[in-house]
Amino acid sequence: MRRLYLSATAVFWLLVIVYWAGSRWWPAVDERAAVITDRMIAPAELARHALPEDCWMAIRGSVHDVSAYLPEHPSRPSVVLPWCGREATEAYDTKNKGRPHSAQADELLARYRIGTLLVDKPR
Ligand code: HEM
Repeated sequence: MRRLYLSATAVFWLLVIVYWAGSRWWPAVDERAAVITDRMIAPAELARHALPEDCWMAIRGSVHDVSAYLPEHPSRPSVVLPWCGREATEAYDTKNKGRPHSAQADELLARYRIGTLLVDKPR
């Protein structure tokens, strides 16, 4: 009986160690999915989405399709529309006049993320 108890305990801890080591070595499923499904978007493709009803913006290295959000944006359309199809990090970070967007705006922005902006590597 004591032997059975000892071997069951040993097997239990062995499984715990294998599971722990495996989870450290093998990335979580959703992390792998993000790596596989992340879309790389070239500046030329970004530039093809420069219309109010088809508006992509690159902000902090990510590309966002903000077409659905633009009608809700609180500023005049002329403030945001020129940034469609372009790298707009500075405009976003300063709202064109030195003030950053709120944390809520950042959360909203994240919902519209569609991929990563491809940048040329310096030679
Ligand atoms: C990149 C070009 C953009 C410019 C130049 C810009 C500029 C502005 C301006 C002038 C205001 C109103 C005045 C103010 O609150 O100070 C504003 C407010 C706001 N914008 Fe933008 N915006 C841009 C893009 C975006 C994007 C892509 C989102 C989200 C998807 C967004 C979300 C918001 C929100 C939620 C507000 C309300 C105030 C806040 O939470 O900071 N904006 N923006």
